[in-house]
Amino acid sequence: VKKLILVANWKNHPDSLSRVEDLINGLKKKAEVYKKLSTFIAPPLAYFESVSKKTKSFSSLASQDISVGKKTTTGAVEVDILQNFGVKLAIIGHSERRALGETNEEVSEKIITALKAGIIPLVCVGEAERDREGEFLEFIRHQIRLSLSGIKKKDEAKSIMIAYEPVWAIGKSSKDAVGPEDLTQMIIFIRKVLSDLYGRETADKIPLLYGGSVEKENAESLVRTGINGFLVGHESLHAENFQKIALALLNK
Ligand code: PGA
Repeated sequence: VKKLILVANWKNHPDSLSRVEDLINGLKKKAEVYKKLSTFIAPPLAYFESVSKKTKSFSSLASQDISVGKKTTTGAVEVDILQNFGVKLAIIGHSERRALGETNEEVSEKIITALKAGIIPLVCVGEAERDREGEFLEFIRHQIRLSLSGIKKKDEAKSIMIAYEPVWAIGKSSKDAVGPEDLTQMIIFIRKVLSDLYGRETADKIPLLYGGSVEKENAESLVRTGINGFLVGHESLHAENFQKIALALLNK
């Protein structure tokens, strides 16, 4: 049985190295839980060295983005630097980056760059709002098709992961997250979109994660939808709550 996936997206937190150490010490207490899952931690770049050394026994290092294009761009996150740090997964196309102007075409380029470097692209998709007519489904289909437009081979498609992260649910509370029924429908819909692109067999092999206010309160009900894992933002900064989310995945 394939392990379920847990990705911690720390965004721009914690605000000091000593707080990073406190958080890691909290996580370490339950290292055996994280080892039973495929656990990834995506810290701010500044903490890469510290986090990779101190968490490698129970999780893999992930990056929150990846850069493409010219190697000499100030502020870029170059893929070879990520590789040298041992980064195993890159979050690509997060809605907070898309809000800064990142296009589906750029997302597609980043996915190809990650794949070439042997880094798993975790491709984020999600609508800004839902409408009764279901237009948001078309939006998701379009976003997936364009974001994955550079992936032609089934073998490449099998190496990616997708995170469904509705923008309206990010950074809120479990009460504002997607409900289990809507998530179940979305899983079926995204699998269909992937199956139209790469065939059913390949589509079934692409792990599908959910992100957007996953908290200890809703993790269990969301796990029952058949989702393959979670991309967790704010709750990943609280060792005890994060552990409860991990346990919900384990006890599926
Ligand atoms: P959240 O963030 O868990 O705080 O909603 C998720 C994300 O943005 O990846």
